[in-house]
Amino acid sequence: MKRFEPLQSELLVGLIPVNPAIECYMQGLIERRTDSVLVEMEALAKQKNFPIVGRLVGTSLEVLAKMINAKRVFEFGSGYGYSAYWFARAVGLNGQVICTDNKLANKEQAEIFLSSVDLWKRVTFYIGYAQAVFSQTEGFFDICYNDVDKSEYPSVWKMAREKIKPGGLYIADNVLWHGKVIAENNTDEWTQAILEHNQLIFDDPEFDAFINPTRDGVMVARRKMA
Ligand SMILES: C[S@@+](CC[C@H](N)C(=O)[O-])C[C@H]1O[C@@H](n2cnc3c(N)ncnc32)[C@H](O)[C@@H]1O
Repeated sequence: MKRFEPLQSELLVGLIPVNPAIECYMQGLIERRTDSVLVEMEALAKQKNFPIVGRLVGTSLEVLAKMINAKRVFEFGSGYGYSAYWFARAVGLNGQVICTDNKLANKEQAEIFLSSVDLWKRVTFYIGYAQAVFSQTEGFFDICYNDVDKSEYPSVWKMAREKIKPGGLYIADNVLWHGKVIAENNTDEWTQAILEHNQLIFDDPEFDAFINPTRDGVMVARRKMA
């Protein structure tokens, strides 16, 4: 079976939540997907050591979005559009994925990639501070997806939860933070922020939540119906 290489950051920390052999097995099951743009986006991530969610998590984003028939998605931290690729597929022709990133070059790259598969028309991409864009965006969302700098996770959760529809989802990547959430020496700011974020969500009576431990851990929290 083909083996997939862990990200550099995973090698450094050495605390991958799921047994790497199991992740390889799961990767093998979905690797035959051959959309050329997907392969190009993944190659760019590898070349630049850019932290995309990867195919296992990307697939789960599409499935989750389709399961709730999501039509309006807000992304905090879109990079060059890899996670948006999966959401854009899910929302369909009349859906909208609002992307945010603080780097213009990422938007330009996303436009090239997503236009090539006719998904750009489903995307509205803002350059700037994601939380500021969110505050200025009216209405409610089927999904709010958080992938910004980890120190900002608690504040993003607090604002995102206010605008998630009943039955809608809050999804956040990296919530196991390469296993640092259980490391003894976990006093760094980003780990502390992730620990606070995770606890806030599980303590929130308006949401039901679980963590998918795939790759670096994905939080999925569903707002209860009224
Ligand atoms: C982990 S990457 C996003 C990867 C993307 N979600 C994917 O899976 O393809 C995080 C991106 O968010 C940007 N970023 C971090 N904090 C941000 C913030 N508060 N507002 C806007 N962009 C931010 C970073 O520059 C980076 O491009």
